[in-house]
Amino acid sequence: MRRKLVIGNWKMNGNRAANSALLSGIAAGLTSTGADCAVCAPAPYLAQCQAELAGTSIGWGAQDLSAHAGGAYTGEVAAGMLVDFGCRYVLVGHSERRAYHHESSALVAQKTVAALAAGLTPVLCIGETLEEREAGRTAAVVGEQLGAVLAAIAVADLARLVLAYEPVWAIGTGRTATPQMAQDVHQLLRAQLAGVDPVAAAGVQILYGGSMKPDNAKELMAQADIDGGLIGGAALKAADFLAIISAAA
Ligand code: G3P
Repeated sequence: MRRKLVIGNWKMNGNRAANSALLSGIAAGLTSTGADCAVCAPAPYLAQCQAELAGTSIGWGAQDLSAHAGGAYTGEVAAGMLVDFGCRYVLVGHSERRAYHHESSALVAQKTVAALAAGLTPVLCIGETLEEREAGRTAAVVGEQLGAVLAAIAVADLARLVLAYEPVWAIGTGRTATPQMAQDVHQLLRAQLAGVDPVAAAGVQILYGGSMKPDNAKELMAQADIDGGLIGGAALKAADFLAIISAAA
């Protein structure tokens, strides 16, 4: 059985004081042990996460990393640096990075390889735009995004991936995919994984992201291939984030 996993993606939000209040609120309210949870904070606050979450069951991670292990890459953050601050997870290929920073599937694949090499768990984000969905291209788009990564990693590393299906049109819009729409894509993704290694595919957690909230989380996560959530807006309020974690357990 796959454990459920709920990750909060804070995006470019927060400050020292607000983070502290949020983290202590989550830690104080966390009762369930039925699901794993983590927060992905902006890089400058990873040390704060490490200091404030050590000893709790809440994991933490980053929102991006460099494809390079180190060197003359001004402004970049290497996987090893994330490990230095206790990160377990790192998001790769979030649609905001693909759209605003022009990250190609090839670059996302290189970043995934870099994360794996450092011992991190990459959370590979994939999803189609509204235009692509309406053109009937969802399967082709998510298949290409996942395929680029599968071609770059060792088969033995497949089991170390977490996937997040985030339809771009559902992110921050309040417009959620129906549970069936999400399940259909999750099932496709798992079938693609199974084409590489059926045993590993059965164990890979595939999260849904895109306007997941306390009131729709349970139904989404009840689907056979939805193993948790990658939460944006609702992860910025301890009560909402906790309610989603409870819905997962
Ligand atoms: O990575 C999480 C995300 O993009 C979803 O954001 O605000 O729709 O939950 P939101």
